[in-house]
Amino acid sequence: MRSRYLPARRALIFWTLFIGLGAVAGAVGMLADPSGHAMGMDAMLPYFQKMPLADLLYKDFVFPGIALLLVNGIPNLCAAALLWAKKPSGVVLGGIFGVTLMMWIGIQFYLFPFNFMSTAYFVFGFLQAVTGYMAWVFLRQERFSVPAETDPRIGTDPTRLVVYFSRMGYTKRVALEEAARTGACVYEIRSTERTQGTAGFWWCGRYGMHRWDMPIETDMPDLSAFRHVTVCSPIWVFHLAAPVRSFCRQAAGQIKEADYILLHHQKNDYRNAAEEMDRLLGLCDSPAVSICCREGRYLRRQRIERKA
Ligand SMILES: Cc1cc2nc3c(=O)[nH]c(=O)nc-3n(C[C@H](O)[C@H](O)[C@H](O)COP(=O)(O)O)c2cc1C
Repeated sequence: MRSRYLPARRALIFWTLFIGLGAVAGAVGMLADPSGHAMGMDAMLPYFQKMPLADLLYKDFVFPGIALLLVNGIPNLCAAALLWAKKPSGVVLGGIFGVTLMMWIGIQFYLFPFNFMSTAYFVFGFLQAVTGYMAWVFLRQERFSVPAETDPRIGTDPTRLVVYFSRMGYTKRVALEEAARTGACVYEIRSTERTQGTAGFWWCGRYGMHRWDMPIETDMPDLSAFRHVTVCSPIWVFHLAAPVRSFCRQAAGQIKEADYILLHHQKNDYRNAAEEMDRLLGLCDSPAVSICCREGRYLRRQRIERKA
């Protein structure tokens, strides 16, 4: 699959260099001519008098120049160097310095009358922060590794089956661990629609939003041959993932006994998804577990209480 982290990292290098070099240039200009005359900024000095210790620090542009260098210049250039060296800390710092820039401009909003430059740089700071966050998410997603189906315990109990659907591999890992724990055979639900990558995410979101079934491949095993089936599903738009909905509809009446494992980003338990699977499969109060998983970190696992 094409990396989403690499373009996000490149965009973050652009922002950190753009802001960092701009800040260094501005700071050098202020320190070279502290009156601000050379840069046409001398008329701005009176606005600084609202700041604490104005008599001491804002008589000229020496302190603002040093502050600009220390707050936006050097930190952004360090982040750019770390990103260039492929260090994950560069991703975190690059994003944080976007927020720092927004706070810096927040002070300018307080000091100066409305002006184009401050507004533009506030937007740049926002874009830098968003790029940093995206790069961080993509990095974590791409570092997540899905185990191969090679555990010798999988398939040792032919009366049990673990069924799963997974886009990013988070549900797959849990499904394979469950199969290894119980000795169950494994069946992956595969969609015939596009589910991978950014376009796949939005396409899945469309199915999730409308609570549609999503077409799946028709290589389902004989479900009635299993004593127990564990169905593992991600949550899409607060409900059961569309391919698992299709599976359950097609499996109606064929599964004798089931339990469910639900994976999701938020800390809800999503019992509605367990209830939907029971309804579709024609079962009642099947045990269910809910797992909160964020970018490959499994944060919380809880049993869903089914009976009122
Ligand atoms: C289209 C879509 C919609 C989602 N909606 C939700 C949601 O409403 N609530 C939630 O907690 N997680 C939601 N998620 C996050 C997934 O449930 C979560 O990342 C899950 O671990 C993905 O598992 P997978 O990698 O095995 O596909 C959504 C994911 C996708 C792709």
